[in-house]
Amino acid sequence: MRPAAMLGRMLGFARCAVLFPAVLASSLAAQTSVDSILPHIDRTGAHPALIVDGAPFLMLGAQMNNSSAFTATLPRVWPAMEELGVNTVEAPIYWEKFEPTEGSFDPSSIDLLLAQARTHNVHLVLLWFGTWKNGSPGYAPEWVKLDGKRFPLAVSKDGRQSFSMSPFAPATLAADTRAFTTLMQHLKEADPQHTVLMVQVENEAGMWGNTRDFSPQANRLFEQPVPKAVLTAMGKADAHGNWSEVFGADADGYFHAWAVSRYINQVAEAGRRVYPLPLYVNAAVSDPLHKATPGSFESGAAVADALPIWHAMCPAIDAIEPDIYLPDHASYTAVLTQYALPWNPFFVPETGNAPAYAHYFFAALGHGAFGWSPFGMDQTGYSNAPIGAEKIDTETLAPFALNYRIVAPMQRELAQWNREDRVRGSAENPDVHTETLHFAPVDGQPARWSATVSYGMPTFYSSKPAPGNAKPEGEALVVQLGPDEFLVTGVHARVDFNALVPANEQKSQRMWLSVEEGSYEQGKWKGTRLWNGDQTDYGLNFTSAAQVLRVRLTTF
Ligand code: DGJ
Repeated sequence: MRPAAMLGRMLGFARCAVLFPAVLASSLAAQTSVDSILPHIDRTGAHPALIVDGAPFLMLGAQMNNSSAFTATLPRVWPAMEELGVNTVEAPIYWEKFEPTEGSFDPSSIDLLLAQARTHNVHLVLLWFGTWKNGSPGYAPEWVKLDGKRFPLAVSKDGRQSFSMSPFAPATLAADTRAFTTLMQHLKEADPQHTVLMVQVENEAGMWGNTRDFSPQANRLFEQPVPKAVLTAMGKADAHGNWSEVFGADADGYFHAWAVSRYINQVAEAGRRVYPLPLYVNAAVSDPLHKATPGSFESGAAVADALPIWHAMCPAIDAIEPDIYLPDHASYTAVLTQYALPWNPFFVPETGNAPAYAHYFFAALGHGAFGWSPFGMDQTGYSNAPIGAEKIDTETLAPFALNYRIVAPMQRELAQWNREDRVRGSAENPDVHTETLHFAPVDGQPARWSATVSYGMPTFYSSKPAPGNAKPEGEALVVQLGPDEFLVTGVHARVDFNALVPANEQKSQRMWLSVEEGSYEQGKWKGTRLWNGDQTDYGLNFTSAAQVLRVRLTTF
């Protein structure tokens, strides 16, 4: 045990709060030396990467239900996680349990998760359920909930209290900051092996049912000129005026986003000064296909429209991620595009656990994601249908488990290929049954091939156009390894390639030079057989057999 940890144990963890200023100062000094070995975000590649143990890491994740991180319930979490084949489990840390009495901290729920995750050989992403959990203070300790004077709720337009904390209360900010910082301090001491990869600050912060806090203090600020940082972020650097004057109908939402993001940044900033693990926030996304109108989304949340504000106000947050519970193809892929931004290290921290969501995994990877995580993957008996599955059984888990079985042997390679922008993915669209995938320039030259994915084809010859699968749950993943070399896999999909030949080139038809099935073992490709004849004459056909192919192409 490290000396600081030993001291903490001897003094009893409840005294952490008293130790806090000294601990903070010493860890600030130590920060530089631990940074390189900590999990961290690297931004030097084409896509930002999560670096774990010195190399890009792909989170094959799943999140447990909200009330599952207890000794009594974890035994019903692990079997589902094992069946899925995850390498990372997302688990909540409850403020009410962590700080049951003000200033007195109980780290046992963190230690429980650390111990059990290590036994099950998985990493953790911890979710700080603090001031906001789905916009409400449900997880605030009783001493917060019962002291509305110190820890005021936001006020709604009609003057009533709303069940969301005001982001303008210094005591709430101070209390959450101290608790979060103590959590990070404990991780620093108790997790030298970096079981924990990232920490989520709050959960879907914002406010439902109201557009902003209408307390007198909030109203005063709302009448002030919009801060310069917000104007610049929103591309309105030259505008002048208060929030309504500058943003019209969107003013309340942007104002609340500014207030909540500013608050969260302060919590995060204090936490990362103690222990600089990657920190992110998750968002209840708004309708990605239509303009978000006030009242139609969680106000103040990091919805697509408000991302520039969150980005500008949260330098202490590494990433802003979408929770995707929109099963239709247009919405899901639109959200991927909204959040997979060059500045945003991207992963999907929550998505639906119904089988219809499974086929978006490769599409997420194709958008540069370094992780993906269906929600509610345990057998504690809760179902969040209709946004998720009715029950978590083998049938529900199967398509998710297949995804992870396919990529697990090459997870590190995939993370590196994604960093180099070599990965493209397709999710079956029920309305359009083929998709063309385009690749980045390779070896300094424009890509020489595109790939076509088609759905619903037989594995043998057919002259008919692709009809789509009976259930639109196909997907494909294609990685450009070199100018004429690709790695290909899929589920209920056919993949073929098209030569992108210059106009004066005669040879324009695709010829398979070799198609080898195999897998990566400790970083080395091991072929098991060559595909040829019926297996390649009509394209590369994938069923649910977890097959990965290395393909070399030429033209004739
Ligand atoms: C999104 C939240 O982040 C989760 O904690 C959970 O409440 C799901 N929605 C719904 O089950």
